[in-house]
Amino acid sequence: MLIIIHLSLMSAATLCLISGVAVAMFKRSKNYWFKAHKTLNTTGLIILLAGTVMAIVGVTVGGGGHLSGLHQRIGLVTVILSCVTVFLGYYSIKAKNKTALLALHRWLGRLSVLGVLFVLILGLIMIGII
Ligand code: HEM
Ligand code: HEM
Repeated sequence: MLIIIHLSLMSAATLCLISGVAVAMFKRSKNYWFKAHKTLNTTGLIILLAGTVMAIVGVTVGGGGHLSGLHQRIGLVTVILSCVTVFLGYYSIKAKNKTALLALHRWLGRLSVLGVLFVLILGLIMIGII
């Protein structure tokens, strides 16, 4: 049951993150892009963290060992990457070296989205859906 909640939360988080990045990539000419990007991606991270807690609780309750496979390990790295990306997004607003931090944000952001998609596919393979 907890893993189904994990699956649902991770799917929702992925949709939020992809939509937020799509806004930053394709809707930059609109004046709402920043607010939409910030809201969608912050929400995406919160759901991602909730989904991670569900996975950890699910593994604990099931009596299994933590971080036992590729999905679990790359999943954790991706969650950490996403946290750093969001932190850089907020921090760079006031920072002096804004240009460098935003460049890092853009690349870590792209890597986070690719990571989430890859881990999602690994998860679906793990439970036999694909
Ligand atoms: C629909 C997609 C997904 C499915 C079906 C899925 C499925 C699972 C399952 C079955 C486990 C438990 C494995 C076990 O018993 O050891 C698990 C653990 C985990 N998943 Fe996912 N997952 C999905 C998406 C994601 C995503 C997108 C992330 C992160 C970016 C993620 C991060 C994790 C982590 C960190 C664990 C390990 C928890 C621990 O070892 O304590 N998962 N996942
Ligand atoms: C995990 C969440 C996030 C991801 C994956 C992400 C990803 C990205 C990506 C891929 C871009 C570049 C788009 C392009 O190709 O032009 C971008 C741009 C940007 N993001 Fe984020 N972002 C996230 C959260 C945030 C947050 C929370 C903020 C602000 C508080 C933010 C602020 C910005 C800004 C200001 C830019 C423009 C950077 C520039 O033009 O140099 N991002 N983001």
